[in-house]
Amino acid sequence: MIKVFPNRVTVTSALPYVNGVKHLGNLIGSILPADIFHRFLDLFDVENIYICGTDDHGTAIEIGAAKEGLTPEQYVKKYYDIQRQIYEKWNFDFTHFGQTSAKENHEITQEIFEAAYDNGYVEKESLVIPYCTSCKKFLPDRYTIGTCPACQYDSAKGDQCEKCGKLLDPEELVKPRCTVCNKTTIEFRKENHLFLNFAALQPKLKEWIEGNTHWPDNTRNFALGWIKEGLRPRCITRNLKWGVKVPMKGYEHLVFYVWFDAPIGYISITKAGVKDWKKWWTDSSIYHFLGKDNVPFHTIFWPGTLIAANKKYDLPHHVEGYEYLNWEGDKFSTSRGVGLFSDEALDLFPTDYWRFYLSSILPESKDSNFDWRDFQSRINNELIGNYGNLFYRATLFVEKNFNGVVPEAELGEEEHNLHWKLGKTIHKVEELVKQVKLKEALKEILALASETNKYFQDKKPWKASKEEQAVALYTAVNMLQPLSMLLKPFIPETAGKAIDCLGGKQELSQDFIVEPGQKIKAKLLFKKIEDVDIQKVRRYKTKYMKQDAVDTIEMVNDMMPFEEFAKVEMKVATITKVEDHPKADKLYVLQIDLGKEQRQLVAGLKGIYKKEELEGKQIIVVTNLEPKELRGVKSHGMLLAADDGTILSPSKAVENGMKIR
Ligand code: 2FM
Ligand code: ZN
Repeated sequence: MIKVFPNRVTVTSALPYVNGVKHLGNLIGSILPADIFHRFLDLFDVENIYICGTDDHGTAIEIGAAKEGLTPEQYVKKYYDIQRQIYEKWNFDFTHFGQTSAKENHEITQEIFEAAYDNGYVEKESLVIPYCTSCKKFLPDRYTIGTCPACQYDSAKGDQCEKCGKLLDPEELVKPRCTVCNKTTIEFRKENHLFLNFAALQPKLKEWIEGNTHWPDNTRNFALGWIKEGLRPRCITRNLKWGVKVPMKGYEHLVFYVWFDAPIGYISITKAGVKDWKKWWTDSSIYHFLGKDNVPFHTIFWPGTLIAANKKYDLPHHVEGYEYLNWEGDKFSTSRGVGLFSDEALDLFPTDYWRFYLSSILPESKDSNFDWRDFQSRINNELIGNYGNLFYRATLFVEKNFNGVVPEAELGEEEHNLHWKLGKTIHKVEELVKQVKLKEALKEILALASETNKYFQDKKPWKASKEEQAVALYTAVNMLQPLSMLLKPFIPETAGKAIDCLGGKQELSQDFIVEPGQKIKAKLLFKKIEDVDIQKVRRYKTKYMKQDAVDTIEMVNDMMPFEEFAKVEMKVATITKVEDHPKADKLYVLQIDLGKEQRQLVAGLKGIYKKEELEGKQIIVVTNLEPKELRGVKSHGMLLAADDGTILSPSKAVENGMKIR
């Protein structure tokens, strides 16, 4: 037999920042696929653990805590507990879900730093850093804003001006101010910091990456590209109170940069929660699952840290970087209310519906898109239509016609053929899982379910003789058992129930193992998603959206009964220019800014509003209408106004392009 997997595997998912509940885009690119992979390893009897936990350090967490009036410890505890409870509901099967603020992480981070220092890879250098004298805090680049020296935009960030794109140093900002307290009490202070010398690590990193011939080409080339550009020393310390203290004389007031101690969290969380922890980091193949923005950290920064320390910890064996998930064609955005969060999703539909659908759209090689209609159709047609219904029909038939007992049967050619396909599918799935192609693995399994359905349908047991019935049912039940085992990594709760109904053999075999005489139970595993369910959830707006956006949406929803406007899409826009219509007395031609898109509207507002009153005003526009011509001028969309012509505007300024419905 060919050995498909390494002997021992340590699976990790990117550690989610502790600050707040994560959205579905976060889960689909790390925790969910890592969980599925780990469950498959269990299924294929590969010794493995699955490690995750919260990433507790960094400026954002200090600031988040201050905003809620909590200490960082209290804040971290609050959100760790919240996240852990949510992940339990998702049935994520962590061997341990820990925290980077745990004492084990402080200890191992300090040990790794000291070893890197002893090996000569740490350098001292001074830096000039913005300091807010009101907050008494050094500010990371993004937390200082001010006027852009190039385009005069007044809210340019310390690393880049969003308006003109110029890359900036915080010192270049005119009238810099602090984003935390909004005051201009900024000084630039010089301070000594510590750097990990990546220039010196470059040759060893290059050799290691080149040797990783088992990596997918894109990951490997990407990492080599960075190396080719030339690596520079990177600052690994920050002037914050919250974090892992730097154990070195003269630097005790500093903590490590969050990206220095976070990946070390993988090791320390194992130490905190797994017996015999060392073997998982000295004699194991490490599989990291993460979003594409984290790839450089896991292919360069993290292995570089381990090489510098030379403490014989295993370097990453496989780095699986996922692309992004979009939400109904748009980017996830809390401020615009686009997307859905991991807790609220489970209030709308059962966990396994989400796990199944998200698995079927995993952004493995390109971005993917969440779409409510697609969600409905895949759940109804693939999960229920293909697997759930077959399960119900076959088990019910056995219950009704065979007293719930699996009958004896003499197998013919068709049955042997199906049995052969089962063996083939198991091998194919094993191979795909080895390549971490989980979406394709799911497709293979569903194809086998389809074959089984077809077989059952062709056999027409409801019309057949008792012997023919016995053959069809024995075979269907014996296909449903391995199908459920193969689906279990994706839908653990439901597939687990299905297996229990079939006698409870938790085993994946190429043989038919549900024996004649076995008592089984019928069960309706799923409930179909109706159109009204989708209409209802479409209306649901994430509760994590910024309050201004919520106010606006509630106002519009109050004014318009949902049923009438179910198909209408509305967005916020700003009027940028107003001109008279060349051929009509009562019409204006408006140019509007919809965030990502500029459009022209014709509106009957002349005599109601003056041009100056309209320019700069935010309006709400129905956007999913075909463009039409009004007296020879193109108009694309319709703005919302009351009967007397008063324009409907958001109650407070919100982002252009924000979707109201
Ligand atoms: O991007 C993020 O969400 C980080 N918290 C991931 C850290 S992964 C690991 F290194 F801890
Ligand atoms: Zn401040």
